[in-house]
Amino acid sequence: MIEVQRTLLEWYARDARSFPWRYVNPEPYHVLISEYMLQQTQTQRIAERFPVFIEQYPNVQVLSETTKQEIIMAWQGLGYNNRALRLRECAITIVEKFGGIIPDAYNELISLPGIGPYTASAIMAFAHGKDMAIIDVNIFRIYARLMGISDPADAKKSVIASFADQAYPRGKASEWHQALMDVGARWCKANHALCNECPLHMHCKSAFQVNMQTKKKSRKEPSHRDVPNRIWRGRTIECLRNRPLYAESKELLLSAIIEHPVNEQDIHWFDQTILPALVKDSLIEYDIHTHIVSIAS
Ligand code: ADE
Repeated sequence: MIEVQRTLLEWYARDARSFPWRYVNPEPYHVLISEYMLQQTQTQRIAERFPVFIEQYPNVQVLSETTKQEIIMAWQGLGYNNRALRLRECAITIVEKFGGIIPDAYNELISLPGIGPYTASAIMAFAHGKDMAIIDVNIFRIYARLMGISDPADAKKSVIASFADQAYPRGKASEWHQALMDVGARWCKANHALCNECPLHMHCKSAFQVNMQTKKKSRKEPSHRDVPNRIWRGRTIECLRNRPLYAESKELLLSAIIEHPVNEQDIHWFDQTILPALVKDSLIEYDIHTHIVSIAS
């Protein structure tokens, strides 16, 4: 085994971060749930919420039988509520098309709702022990730097993909890629790199030369009262979760969300932007006659 692989795997065996979904031969269902949750939310938050979710939904069958309302409620604290609905659809598809077994073929995984190339390859390697290169933004950055491209914005996707295919030790794709995730979280961060502490610095062509990653120009998000609509959508669902019957009139709901006296502009914006977006995503239902808003049933 080449030296960089040995170094990283030895370090990982001694010092891996401990998470409730990380154990030897994890259940594929646990990998599916954790990877789904980890798509856009921080590991620490998921480490707290994952065991609670697994207790409520111990297997894919139970998850496939949940209602929309129940899963939106259970997704509290996990961000991006649309993902809760996609996960429910994913479980239903696994039961209907694959007899409740999490597929171990990449093409089948990627056909499932809410599963893209990253999650499909993570499930292949972490759940099924398959040899598979995995590239997320952190691993992309580490590979670019190992190759001597200290700013990953300068790296071509195809170049990183072929490096990734050769880099991982066969039979150890799970440990290798999860070790890289730890390196990215601890040392090889986007805006600074703690090279002197990193176990890979002897093998890294950018060691001690990395300091800043070019900041991507941030596109201005659609906002209201200086808060992105994305956050308002989350707050709307949060308010509905906290109400006893998960239903209330639109005006009451709006003032709970805004936490300020509501004006005409707020009402117009809420009617034109937030309500239709949440209805379109099937997260809420809105009765135009009674003005009652509720979490989708
Ligand atoms: N992010 C995505 N998957 C992860 C994993 N298995 N461990 C740590 N961070 C992750």
